[in-house]
Amino acid sequence: MTIQLNRKVIFIASVITGFLGWKTGFFICILLFLTKVDGEALSLAHGSYLTTQADSGELLYERNCARCHAIEFYKNIAVRWHSMSVLDYFYKIRGSMPADNPRSLTDIEYLEVVAWVLSVNGYPSGDQALQAKNYLGLLKFEE
Ligand code: HEC
Repeated sequence: MTIQLNRKVIFIASVITGFLGWKTGFFICILLFLTKVDGEALSLAHGSYLTTQADSGELLYERNCARCHAIEFYKNIAVRWHSMSVLDYFYKIRGSMPADNPRSLTDIEYLEVVAWVLSVNGYPSGDQALQAKNYLGLLKFEE
């Protein structure tokens, strides 16, 4: 997969270089490279939350969500929320959950619940905290 991607990038780069001259080609290659590195860093497979967040999220789940949704409800997220992002999920629960008391948690707490949901779905933790920022829109649920 990675090898194929790299070949593709090199191919596109050489076509561009052929048409636009090596300076522009070189510049575009750097841009492609940066985008790719950036894109790779923004994957749920690389660890997107702290274990401490997921632990707090579990307590929050028990207190605020478990009375309506059993844990199975949160699993299979890659299927149920396929090609949606962590930001979509965050907005969904922050906007309407718990259904009997919406918006009763803080943003930080909703993020902790999201971190816990990621952990029960087998996504790895990392050394950066999950934060309520735009990059969450680039973290997609994929199978
Ligand atoms: C009083 C019952 C109740 C509580 C408590 C509750 N929910 Fe829900 N939840 C619902 C109902 C009913 C729906 C379906 C309607 C909807 O989507 O708004 C739902 C839908 C959802 C969905 C979208 C369904 C999907 O496709 O995955 C998510 C995610 C969710 N809840 C998460 C949570 C989280 C997280 C909490 C705790 C912070 C929580 N819920 C607490 C009743 C509840």
